[in-house]
Amino acid sequence: MNPPVNPVASAELPGHPFVAYRDDALHVEDVALSALAQTHGTPLFVYSKAAMLSALAAYQRGFAGRDAQICYAMKANSSLGVLQVFAQAGCGFDIVSGGELARVLAAGGDARKIIFSGVGKTRAEMRQALTAGIGCFNVESEAELDVLSGVASAMNLRAPVSIRVNPNVDPKTHPYISTGLKGNKFGVAHEDALRLYQHAASLQGLQVVGIDCHIGSQITESTPYLDAMDRVLDLVAAIEAAGIPLAHIDFGGGLGINYNDDTPPAADDLWRQLLAKLDARGYGGKKLMIEPGRSLVGNAGVCLTEVLYLKPGEQKSFCIIDAAMNDLPRPSLYQAFHAIVPVDLKARQAAEATYDVVGPVCESGDWIGRDRVLQVAAGEHLAVLSAGAYCMSMASNYNTRG
Ligand code: LLP
Repeated sequence: MNPPVNPVASAELPGHPFVAYRDDALHVEDVALSALAQTHGTPLFVYSKAAMLSALAAYQRGFAGRDAQICYAMKANSSLGVLQVFAQAGCGFDIVSGGELARVLAAGGDARKIIFSGVGKTRAEMRQALTAGIGCFNVESEAELDVLSGVASAMNLRAPVSIRVNPNVDPKTHPYISTGLKGNKFGVAHEDALRLYQHAASLQGLQVVGIDCHIGSQITESTPYLDAMDRVLDLVAAIEAAGIPLAHIDFGGGLGINYNDDTPPAADDLWRQLLAKLDARGYGGKKLMIEPGRSLVGNAGVCLTEVLYLKPGEQKSFCIIDAAMNDLPRPSLYQAFHAIVPVDLKARQAAEATYDVVGPVCESGDWIGRDRVLQVAAGEHLAVLSAGAYCMSMASNYNTRG
């Protein structure tokens, strides 16, 4: 990761096409953030619908002319307004719990376009999803195949399933968000996949419909995807040769965003490369599914916060804000970098200084940014950028905060 820098305030914020300064005031689309902070109070998450739709459009361009279904991985952000945007745009959803299923349905999502991922689905969640009529269960173990078959049979149903295979490819990202390597709890081993497909095909309560993989998150290179696709297509060939047809291939999510000079491929560029490989290997006609989360919402959101106190010190100076690790857990969990910028450039009177930007929670790990150069005074507002994914959805009430 690059050394933390505070983006110089300029009209353009690289990587955030719908967040910009106008007349020295930070805007999301046409809305001045200081006005929102005044009206609604802080901390406050603000999302740009245009940014979400523009991120989605890059995938849609990539898949033009193909039979493809984009299932938004709603763990990235499950706020109802965000879900509505994707439901109205025709997206499906990748869910990982009964709670997420209830939210998608409340937001008007189409149950048939829902895929259910996760290593620990409960029987109650399986029944809930079968009753709703979801499109596919992405099964992650042999034991889960057996339980799901039993639950579906008891309801006189056959559960549509894919098996999540672990291609053992290094996604070159933070270890906590790598999921496709041996030693991760996710998916089934490549060498076990064929046997498990044969087992699934023999179970009365299951209908095999596809194959699935997901190798990690915040991936900024194309190569791990291309390697994973090769590994998955090898399995598709073996499974179909064994007489088990696969209607779709699901390549998961994981495409990264620009937090701090990160340069992930654009979704359409990535898919141009992947589709070329798919065509070259003779699978271009298969239905495709993907499960992007972060790349659809990450840079569509900011978190607005107010500076409560400045606390100068001998070793460190602290800028204490009203957002904390319970609102924005990524820095404390993954040492993640989020840019922090002023909301109103004209209001700034103070001298520039270097601060650790921290919240009020009673933990030394409660920091949002370290060694940030800011020109800031108590009472001013700051915006934490790239806060659309895995911030609000990972927020907690720790310290009994609101
Ligand atoms: N599909 C599956 C099966 C997943 O496990 C995930 C994310 C996704 C799709 C969506 O991945 P995305 O496109 O968002 O990278 N809390 C971490 C990220 C955890 C990702 C978990 N799985 C963070 O804040 O970086």
